[in-house]
Order: sequence, then structure tokens, then C-alpha cells
Amino acid sequence: MITVLLGPPGSGKGTQAKVLKEEKHFLHLSTGDMLRAAIQQGSPLGLKVKDIMARGELVSDDIVLALIKEKLETSGAKTNVVLDGFPRNLAQAKSLDDLLRSSSMIVDKVVSIEIDPRELIERLTGRRTCPTCGAGFHVKFQPPKKDGICDSCGGSLVQRKDDTETVIVDRLKVFEQQTSPLREYYQNKGLLAVVDGSQKPVAVTKEIFKAFGI
Ligand code: AP5
Repeated sequence: MITVLLGPPGSGKGTQAKVLKEEKHFLHLSTGDMLRAAIQQGSPLGLKVKDIMARGELVSDDIVLALIKEKLETSGAKTNVVLDGFPRNLAQAKSLDDLLRSSSMIVDKVVSIEIDPRELIERLTGRRTCPTCGAGFHVKFQPPKKDGICDSCGGSLVQRKDDTETVIVDRLKVFEQQTSPLREYYQNKGLLAVVDGSQKPVAVTKEIFKAFGI
């Protein structure tokens, strides 16, 4: 089953995709995580996308499509997949359909995590992540036991470069202009379920499991 989590920055896509991975053994494909890993490694791809991501703009469709293509081709058709942060515009959604069609696959279900944008600034400015193991925290909503230290591996938590208030405002605009039309695209295909993202994470998870029939 190929599933997509849609939603603005901070709506909880990454949080929920990790639950799908841990509890239901989904393959979690996050284009944002892949691009940040390239930046951390200092690879040619990382150097190319670093400034674009820091400004909160989208990187080119070709780049993200190549990343997803490689992962989907190596994962095999039997794996349940959750796409987090991809597709991000209509061109990417159509390319994904073409890519899947070539392997006789389709997007099976899409969940749109919806939330009042005013809540997102606090969520994102308070987000902290562990660069060593990838665990996510929030200074207020999900604080680590020891300030600045990862509960899972003891690594030092960091704040993402694009989680400043000015860049968040720009990322939300990009979402409205380029990504939100995907809601209608998937609704017209009869694939869309809407989930209230302002609930506690466990309640959001419950609705996503229900929407995916798992
Ligand atoms: P990406 O990494 O995809 O970031 P994003 O879409 O902006 O989403 P976020 O990761 O910020 O938020 P999220 O919804 O995952 O929220 P989270 O669960 O972490 O993209 C980054 C950049 O990469 C883009 O700007 C672009 O440059 C590039 N890029 C990536 N994909 C691309 C593509 N396909 N095409 C082109 N460019 C691309 O939660 C946020 C915080 O809230 C956390 O602290 C969490 O603990 C907390 N939280 C989560 N759920 C709840 C809840 N229910 N209640 C309270 N707090 C919660």
C-alpha cells in the first residue's frame, strides 16, 4: 500500500510517519529527511539544496523525484510505504502517478492533516531533533527528560535552520500556493481522508490508522 501524508509544515506528518514505521512497519520516505542528510554529509546534492531549504523554498521537482524513484524501486511492491513531504505540488503528484503506474502500482490512500496555521509557529519554533538517531521532541509539547539531550541516544538536540519564525511564514505561504491544491487532486480521485491535526498525537494516529484501514 502506498500512502501519502499531506499537511502544512508542523502539522505532524513526520511525527505520524514515525509511528507508522515503528508500530506498523511502514517504509517511511521523507524527502525533507533525505535532503537534510545530504546537507549533513556535504554531498554535491546537499550543497545544491542547502540555501534553498534554508529559505523555505521548494527544491526542484527533478531532484526529489529521483530520490523517491530510487527508494521505491529498491523497496519492492510488497512494502507498505508512507510518503512524508512528497508530493509537494501537482507536477510531483502526476510524476508519482506515472512512476507507480510503470510498476503497476497506485497511490492507495492520502490523509490530509489539517490544523489552524496559527498553531504551527509555536510547534515549529519549539521543535528539536536529534541528528544522531532522528528522534523528535518539542520544548513544550514533548520535552526531553534532560534539557537539550535526546532521551533515546543521549545526543545533543538541534533546531532546524528553517524553523525560525520568518522562514516558517514563508514555508506556510509555499504550502498554501503549491501544496494545498493536492487536496482537491486526491479528493477527485476518491483517495482523500481528512484528519484534525490539532488533537493530541495519539488521537491523530488513531484516525490515520482508521483511514488506512490498519
Ligand atoms: P520537510 O522536511 O518535508 O518539512 P515540512 O513539510 O515543512 O514539514 P515539517 O517537517 O516542518 O513538519 P511536520 O508536518 O513533519 O511536523 P512534525 O511531525 O515534525 O521539508 C523541508 C524542506 O525540504 C522544504 O521546505 C523544501 O525546501 C524541501 N523539500 C522537502 N520535500 C520536498 C519536495 N517534495 N519538493 C521540493 N522541496 C522539498 O511536528 C512539528 C512539531 O510539532 C514537533 O516538535 C512535534 O513534536 C510537534 N507535534 C507533532 N504533532 C503534534 C500534535 N498533535 N500536538 C502537539 N505537537 C505536535
